[in-house]
Amino acid sequence: MAGCQTVDNFAGAPEDAVALDAQVQESLGHVRSFVDPFLSATLSKSSRSVPRLHDAIRHVLLAPGKRLRPALTLWAASACGGTWDSAASAAAAVEMIHAYSLVHDDLPSMDDDDLRRGQPTCHRAFDEATAILCGDALQAFAFEILAKGMPKTVAGNACEVLAQAAGRDALVGGQMDDLAAERGWIEDMTDVPASEKIAWLERIHTRKTGALFSAALELGALAAGGSEEQRSALAAYGQSFGLAFQIADDLLDVEGSEVSVGKRVGKDAERGKLTFPSILGIEDSRKRARTLANDAASAISKLGTPAKDLVQLAHWIVSRNH
Ligand code: IPE
Ligand code: IPE
Ligand code: MG
Ligand code: MG
Ligand code: MG
Repeated sequence: MAGCQTVDNFAGAPEDAVALDAQVQESLGHVRSFVDPFLSATLSKSSRSVPRLHDAIRHVLLAPGKRLRPALTLWAASACGGTWDSAASAAAAVEMIHAYSLVHDDLPSMDDDDLRRGQPTCHRAFDEATAILCGDALQAFAFEILAKGMPKTVAGNACEVLAQAAGRDALVGGQMDDLAAERGWIEDMTDVPASEKIAWLERIHTRKTGALFSAALELGALAAGGSEEQRSALAAYGQSFGLAFQIADDLLDVEGSEVSVGKRVGKDAERGKLTFPSILGIEDSRKRARTLANDAASAISKLGTPAKDLVQLAHWIVSRNH
């Protein structure tokens, strides 16, 4: 089956995994056709930096990623009755933070990876110093376009939301937790009961990857002037979605193929990393991911048809093959 494993146990999801895959691929295609030209045009604005930096930024930002975070921003804006145009700069800003985090995550001193999005990682295609600076530039760029592009009344709030999600208590803090566990900078977890290991892993993932997904949704709602009720429904969706995504990422590392995933697989076990499959096993991890996808979908059921892309994405995120 192209593009999907199985979605057999999804309550409320389409019966047909192939149809779900086709629908979500098409919807993500629309997001890509909207966001990529915006990113490209933003990068084309005159710059005094040397072409090497510029080329590195284009290499990572325009590479064929799934554009999940811009999708969440744009679809959250739609779910709150707003337009994609109003949320364009927020969608681009979250993708910039994500792209920078991947460049730094792949560095030799971090995960030391050579392949990302089916292409050589930034430090492989260029060099390590350029990759560090490329990440730094992308991070600053994200806040520049967010501050300029959001409505004046919410621009400050939007920058705060993104800064918190990217910062020491979220993405960066989660990356540090991940390294600390891998490199033995925290106490040994070997004899800790599985339930405690899972709780600890969920805390890492909520910070490392979940916080940026939640910020993507919150920024879409902010751009669209969403109500308190809409925002809290989206926040609940984001919590479950983030964990479901990460369990699927862990499963793909065990079961996926390098060609479809576009990055090295089997690396978590090689590094002795604590992951959902390593604690719960494959089947229970998959069940947990499906339950979380259902929780995410239920959290936004009251938003109705305008939130249908988000519902489909939650189901797809745990059945994808890339
Ligand atoms: C990969 O994220 C990195 C993690 C947070 C685990 P994605 O799976 O969204 O990567 P792209 O954007 O499609 O490359
Ligand atoms: C990366 O996590 C998370 C961030 C970049 C914040 P991983 O190290 O698990 O991601 P992959 O598997 O390399 O994409
Ligand atoms: Mg990592
Ligand atoms: Mg990595
Ligand atoms: Mg991973």
